[in-house]
Amino acid sequence: AMVDKGNYRHFMAKEIHEQPDVVARTLAHYLDLNAMTTKVPEGLPFDFANLQRVVITACGTAFYAGLVAKYWFERLARLPVDIDVASEFRYRETPLDPGGLALFISQSGETADTLASLRYCKAEKQHIGAVVNVKESTIARESDVIFPTIAGPEIGVASTKAFTCQLSVLASMAVMAGRQRGVLSADDEGRLVRALTETPRYMVDALKLEPQIERLARNLAKASDILYLGRGSSYPLAMEGALKLKEISYIHAEGYAAGELKHGPIALIDETMPVIVIAPYDKVFEKTASNMQEVAARGGRIILITDQKGAAAAGVETMETLVMPDVPATIAPMVYSIPIQLLAYHTAVFMGTDVDQPRNLAKSVTVE
Ligand code: G6P
Repeated sequence: AMVDKGNYRHFMAKEIHEQPDVVARTLAHYLDLNAMTTKVPEGLPFDFANLQRVVITACGTAFYAGLVAKYWFERLARLPVDIDVASEFRYRETPLDPGGLALFISQSGETADTLASLRYCKAEKQHIGAVVNVKESTIARESDVIFPTIAGPEIGVASTKAFTCQLSVLASMAVMAGRQRGVLSADDEGRLVRALTETPRYMVDALKLEPQIERLARNLAKASDILYLGRGSSYPLAMEGALKLKEISYIHAEGYAAGELKHGPIALIDETMPVIVIAPYDKVFEKTASNMQEVAARGGRIILITDQKGAAAAGVETMETLVMPDVPATIAPMVYSIPIQLLAYHTAVFMGTDVDQPRNLAKSVTVE
């Protein structure tokens, strides 16, 4: 079926705005909204309770979804996760114990390196699970079990809605795993499922920041380098934010773990380099806030993405603060994806680049 842009200027804008709907649709597939439990997919060929570890492999934005999932699986299910980009994993000759779970995340289901990694894991007798958006894809076909994202066709080369749908699937899986492993009680599960169901509503709230982000983007468009910082599950988001910006605006950007700032990138800080800090008021907020103060002390221009409590507790003068809705920690990665996508989008629009078809990039990389 033909997909059109509707009233949007670019597919990417349309896809960003579709997220509350497609995330709700995806979550409904994995959550029982009456019982407030996760729904274990039919015929799941393994039990999370019997797993020693999960190996996650993916490329690009899907890799960052996997990195967020590592935080969830380890915290909510006490299940160790090894994760690597597929182009490295496939040649590493990683030893794998038979009967483990190997999880592949791919929007297209056709990425060559991810597929090669899947075949390696199959030969090593792993259970093969795939989080894919295209159900008729090669990766889907070669997997033992598919965890579909229900994002609908994604046309913009820079992934947006597929990413938040991947996160929604992976968060649901982590809760399912936590329950099966006896780490989460029925009450914990109910509380987490409720939090997940609130994601679309919070995404709608986050989208209301668009006019402020558009004004800010006018400024960012003048920068030649931008640093993104985050800690905990905001760290992969920092890398995804930097990737999104690079892909479509061609501005050099780097995502860094906030605590690593002092081991290198702090040398770059001056008044010309914007520093975007992703910091919901969570357990690690105070730590990130002290990194932010180190940036401020060196004249860095800070753009802080946080909530009301974080804005009040930051203790620094920012160039701009984006005040997000106050959300449960587990769903923050989905909700905070919205401002980082909008920032990249509007910066690129100001620069006049081809947002939906950036130079040198392909939607799906089917060659090595
Ligand atoms: C390309 C796309 C990215 C995508 C990556 C992985 O680089 O431009 O947006 O994240 O491939 O694609 P996949 O289809 O495997 O998720």
